[in-house]
Amino acid sequence: MAAIAVFNPKGGVGKTTLAINLAWEAAAMGNRTLLWDLDGQGDSTDILVDSRQPPRMDATRLMHGIGDIAAHIVPSKVAGLDVLVPEEDMRRTDNWFVHLAQQQRLNRLLLQIKERYDRIIIDCPPGLGDTARRLLLVADLIIVPVIPAPLAVRGLERVRSYVVQNRGRHAPILPVFSMVDRRRSLHKAALRDHPDWPVIPMTSGIEHMTSRKLPVGRIAPASAAAKVFHQLWNGIDAKLCQMRLARAAPGLANLAARDAQAKAGAPLTASPMR
Ligand SMILES: Nc1ncnc2c1ncn2[C@@H]1O[C@H](COP(=O)(O)OP(=O)(O)O)[C@@H](O)[C@H]1O
Ligand SMILES: [Mg+2]
Repeated sequence: MAAIAVFNPKGGVGKTTLAINLAWEAAAMGNRTLLWDLDGQGDSTDILVDSRQPPRMDATRLMHGIGDIAAHIVPSKVAGLDVLVPEEDMRRTDNWFVHLAQQQRLNRLLLQIKERYDRIIIDCPPGLGDTARRLLLVADLIIVPVIPAPLAVRGLERVRSYVVQNRGRHAPILPVFSMVDRRRSLHKAALRDHPDWPVIPMTSGIEHMTSRKLPVGRIAPASAAAKVFHQLWNGIDAKLCQMRLARAAPGLANLAARDAQAKAGAPLTASPMR
């Protein structure tokens, strides 16, 4: 029902990390959640999906109307969270998105996915290529992780000016400080300039996600980092409800029921698209 793009044209700023932990929070609150991995590197798929050979998207075939995007959605290790596996070649994804937008079918595709999921978190590729450009215009909310340094803040300005120029009344853009080290003077100064932006600290717990291949909420549920993601998600969810894009999450009782189902051997897929 709501599509949230996690985007910054710069690479290595924490997009994938944020997308995975927000998706975990959304699913933990009982939402049917999809993490749409749109980066050809497939980092979020690698962390969240057990399969060694998840069904990679074939953007050229999809562009020619062959096959179905649903075939590339797989259950993750987390109950209630599915992953849409990316195409490897970003140029082919770009061509497909241009084609979809030209035929005014991108909105329809998103609506089709939104019917099956309460929350869609999109892990965007770096750069302001065709895929990102088209997506930014259809997302309901844009979250921009920003490393507190002058050049990184410029990435946020690029997002803002692109969306304003092309969409006019645009989706809310939420900047989030990422990889913050409060001992560093540049970081401290940036935080002082934007005291209302949420802050994700630089921690080894978050770094370990790549080796443990699990969200922080699973690795270290009581850690400060897990609490930060939890609070951030609550804020985002409240915003979505305020925008009337989402119903309040069904809550933990529902999740417990689903976990019991999963343990009993039922398929974990939040909502298979058929
Ligand atoms: N808050 C953090 N603390 C420690 N390491 C982090 C943090 N956020 C991201 N990282 C690490 O930084 C690297 C880049 O993060 P990633 O989320 O992949 O960025 P992007 O998707 O923007 O390229 C990864 O190795 C990730 O584990
Ligand atoms: Mg990434």
